[in-house]
Amino acid sequence: MEKFIRDLPKAELHLHIEGTLEPEMMFELAQRNNIDLPYKSVSEVRDAYNFTDLQSFLDIYYQGSEVLQKEQDFYDLTWAYLEKAASQNVRHTEIFFDPQCHTSRGIAFETVYQGIYQALQDGQTKLGISSNLILSFLRDLSAEEAFATLEQALPYKDTIPAVGLDSAEQGNPPSKFKEVFDRAQAEGFLTVAHAGEEGPPEYIWEAINLLKVSRIDHGVRSMEDPELLDYLVDKQIPLTVCPLSNVELKVFDSMAKHNLKKLLNLGICATVNSDDPSYFGGYIAENYQAAQSALDLTKQELYQLAKNSFQASFLSPESKHKLI
Ligand code: HPA
Ligand code: ZN
Repeated sequence: MEKFIRDLPKAELHLHIEGTLEPEMMFELAQRNNIDLPYKSVSEVRDAYNFTDLQSFLDIYYQGSEVLQKEQDFYDLTWAYLEKAASQNVRHTEIFFDPQCHTSRGIAFETVYQGIYQALQDGQTKLGISSNLILSFLRDLSAEEAFATLEQALPYKDTIPAVGLDSAEQGNPPSKFKEVFDRAQAEGFLTVAHAGEEGPPEYIWEAINLLKVSRIDHGVRSMEDPELLDYLVDKQIPLTVCPLSNVELKVFDSMAKHNLKKLLNLGICATVNSDDPSYFGGYIAENYQAAQSALDLTKQELYQLAKNSFQASFLSPESKHKLI
């Protein structure tokens, strides 16, 4: 089964590039940039990854990101992810980046963008992995700050097909960003949003009806609203599910309690993704594997999840046809 999963051609659609920062690289970059870390060793870093909810993770994730300073740092981070993805037969990836996590520390938008984008270009030519970038707004910051970030992205909009919404969900509903997303759409961006990870099903409805999203990131709490489930099936609005993340952040008590299999078998276009692999204990293959063994997913179901990942992507119909 492990080999079947690794060899399955896959697309990864929910991956925060800052969440791929392995503790080893955190130390390397801290040294390179003369930054003092609050940890003495790699194992001390890993010991700190003991989360009780989304916020407890975000605190550590934003702190870790501070070692990212130069364009080369962003390049190295992204390249390391792409090599890992290639080793697990990821053929296409749609990667979130959180510019505000860096611009708020005085790092220029261009520095962040150029480092990531150059690595993605090399990923295409050297590893054969195609990529799309998704600029994600931090929903715990204001709509005005999101507007300012959108402005910074406009010169690069031809290479950033979509915008998204992440960070602390509770109390920061999609409706807060309706005007920003309207503007982004007017500029030609597609939209996605994290919704129904910790937040209620109403946030998923808002993401659909107000932000006009092409897919929902997480969305596992849709299970609480039968009408919403019917709608997701009917319109084939995909969910980018992240099983290890959900268990690590206590959205589910255990993998055996995860609703991925139920969502899939209801006819929802569910996909499997790694979210923040260095923090949650595994990349995409480990996510498929953990879900497979806890939920007893069949090869047919695994194949369907992988097929859904291409179907749910922003690839053109011709590229999808070639990859599926
Ligand atoms: N949820 C919200 N914000 C995030 C996440 C997540 O899973 N990962 C990185 N930022
Ligand atoms: Zn996420």
